[in-house]
Amino acid sequence: MDKPLIPKDEFPIFRNNPSLNFLDSAASSQKPESVINAMDEFYSTTYANIHRGMYKLSEQSTNLYEKAREKVAKLINAKPNEIIFTKSATESLNLLAYVLEPKSYAVSVMEHHSNFVPWQFMAKARKKPISYIDIDDEGFFRKLPKAGLYALSAASNVLGTINNIHGLCDEIRDNKGISVIDATQAVPHGKFDVKKEGCDFTAFSSHKMLGPTGIGVLYAKEGILDNAKPFLFGGDMIKSVSVEGTEFSDAPYKYEAGTPPIAEAIGLSAAIDLLEKTGMENIRNHEMALTKYAMESIENIKNISYYGPKDPRKKAGVISFNVSGMHANDVAYFLSAKNIAIRSGHHCAMPLHRRLNITGTARASFYVYNDKSDIDALADALGKLNFR
Ligand SMILES: Cc1ncc(COP(=O)(O)O)c(C=O)c1O
Repeated sequence: MDKPLIPKDEFPIFRNNPSLNFLDSAASSQKPESVINAMDEFYSTTYANIHRGMYKLSEQSTNLYEKAREKVAKLINAKPNEIIFTKSATESLNLLAYVLEPKSYAVSVMEHHSNFVPWQFMAKARKKPISYIDIDDEGFFRKLPKAGLYALSAASNVLGTINNIHGLCDEIRDNKGISVIDATQAVPHGKFDVKKEGCDFTAFSSHKMLGPTGIGVLYAKEGILDNAKPFLFGGDMIKSVSVEGTEFSDAPYKYEAGTPPIAEAIGLSAAIDLLEKTGMENIRNHEMALTKYAMESIENIKNISYYGPKDPRKKAGVISFNVSGMHANDVAYFLSAKNIAIRSGHHCAMPLHRRLNITGTARASFYVYNDKSDIDALADALGKLNFR
């Protein structure tokens, strides 16, 4: 905690902004040199479209793309054919909302809009019942209703709450339901094993785990999409096409129509190399120590209250707080003047803020390049805010 887990000078953004205290990794993480170089080198030496060229560059490019799939699979203990590359976690979840047709839905009130709005929209459009799962004050899910499909987050992007996904997936299976787990705030920050958790589907984004924007992941348990309809139609997702009709490929290719994010997959692969070299357990422990230190640091500052679990073992590296009498956006502007970057507002979780009876929060979030000094800067600035 005294120093970053991955040195700041491995990230060009910090070399170019040496006094930056970046505390907004829950929105998107910064990019290490190794990821930028991997993409640069790929474009400069090996780039060609994949899966269709008979020439060497296309073969090499295809190999790298498929190796990236294998790497993602290994990270979460899945098989390569269980990994679908999409544009983002948002697209992964929308894809599911479109192709799955359960008899009823259950969604928690804590979800990010990307794991809330698609289900709400589909339930209404298909005239199917939808129930909303309540939370306690720390963000732990209350009793699950009976439903055909459950959309739940592994870790909240606002409260940081880490729910017991393994137990919930067991219960969902007992209810004969399908589990869709939004692990966007979980996979980048610790070991996430889809087999141990026992979920049917998991979604996450590359850009929150040191990788590039433009690529997301959908884990779909082997065979579960065999009878599901495709999402996007076009090249690369077919076995054969004729005027009589089209035979579609199997997953994952059925869901990767058109030219996919090839260089982005190579960038994500480099990000995973660095995360694994750093150690997922070490990342979790580093963030837990930072979260504990941050809670202790801001706890004693007059007029500040924070939300979510008080026990750092039950919380991801995210702290959302409010300063009484001040709008969260004003807190963020004030900190920005001191080169401290945090997020403010509803963090794409309006139902959660309504449940907590607040309109917004200021949010500081931590990652591998943060250390104690970032939190000291935050606490110091917040302390001054109270005595202006
Ligand atoms: C919990 C959670 N789910 C989903 C998303 C959506 O991710 P993306 O914008 O990469 O699609 C986010 C992004 O903030 C998130 O925090």
